[in-house]
Amino acid sequence: MDIHQYLDQQRQRIDHYLEHSLPASLCDPEQLYESMRYSLLAGGKRVRPILTIATAQALSYDDDAMLPFAASLEFIHTYSLVHDDLPAMDDDDYRRGRLTNHKVYGDGMAILAGDALQTMAFGLCSQDAGPHSLTTSQQLQIIRELAFGSGHQGMVGGQVMDIQAENQEVELSHLQKIHAHKTGQLIRAAVRIGGIIGGASSTQLDNLTGYAEDIGLAFQIADDVLNMVGTREELGKDAGTDEKRGKQTYPSFFGVEGSKKLGEDCVERAMTRLESFDHQADPLRKIASYIIERRS
Ligand code: IPE
Ligand code: IPE
Ligand code: MG
Ligand code: MG
Repeated sequence: MDIHQYLDQQRQRIDHYLEHSLPASLCDPEQLYESMRYSLLAGGKRVRPILTIATAQALSYDDDAMLPFAASLEFIHTYSLVHDDLPAMDDDDYRRGRLTNHKVYGDGMAILAGDALQTMAFGLCSQDAGPHSLTTSQQLQIIRELAFGSGHQGMVGGQVMDIQAENQEVELSHLQKIHAHKTGQLIRAAVRIGGIIGGASSTQLDNLTGYAEDIGLAFQIADDVLNMVGTREELGKDAGTDEKRGKQTYPSFFGVEGSKKLGEDCVERAMTRLESFDHQADPLRKIASYIIERRS
């Protein structure tokens, strides 16, 4: 299995769904939809929805009925990026290869577009999806995972810790906690939602959760490294910004090479969590390696 081909195929599947799930910019309020579409359809890697799909596939499930749930993770993730880039947070000018949302539409519209993306995510998960739909109980469990992973105990909680740590000396254990929350929790939700869709047993769900926590940390370590060594052309966003904003990161503790090694350790641990899964979990295995090898 060629992982790049797999990622391309699944990305197209998600992109097609995302394109059709958002109202056209011609609908009222036009500027809101334009701003939402601007960020959502700007071409991210779609790692989180792909993780949901790959997890369901690892459990022999591959029906398009899972797409609204997979897409909901991209709605939440995109909203988190729009808000993360605001002047009151990281104050960034570029994202996904274009100007950040607030640079084009203004802070107010960027805040509101983020809000609307977030609530749409929950709308998608609670809709009646027709004959192949999941059970109401599965949908409720998914909504609970999404709320937990994105909210005060998850991504938002991590973002709070992140801004509070700016220009502060933090311990490594605290940095790890920030990463596990601001990035790890949504990745954990993506995988667990795939597990719920695929009908995972509680042991399988525990193993998948361990896998997700390990790759979640690896993902943010790679983001920290790329922020230090990447370029705007590669990343689609400015590099060198963590240092400028006084953020401690893995490379500020361990250097670039030391951080890469720690990322590899996380991936190795993640692989052991999948030992009881058969070849259908190969995409999950390869995504783990892709996360630390990526250049953007
Ligand atoms: C960037 O996420 C922000 C983090 C949580 C590290 P991605 O690297 O997944 O960004 P996109 O979605 O591909 O733009
Ligand atoms: C992003 O973390 C985490 C989010 C919840 C959006 P960063 O602020 O480190 O990510 P980038 O580098 O801006 O993409
Ligand atoms: Mg940030
Ligand atoms: Mg940022």
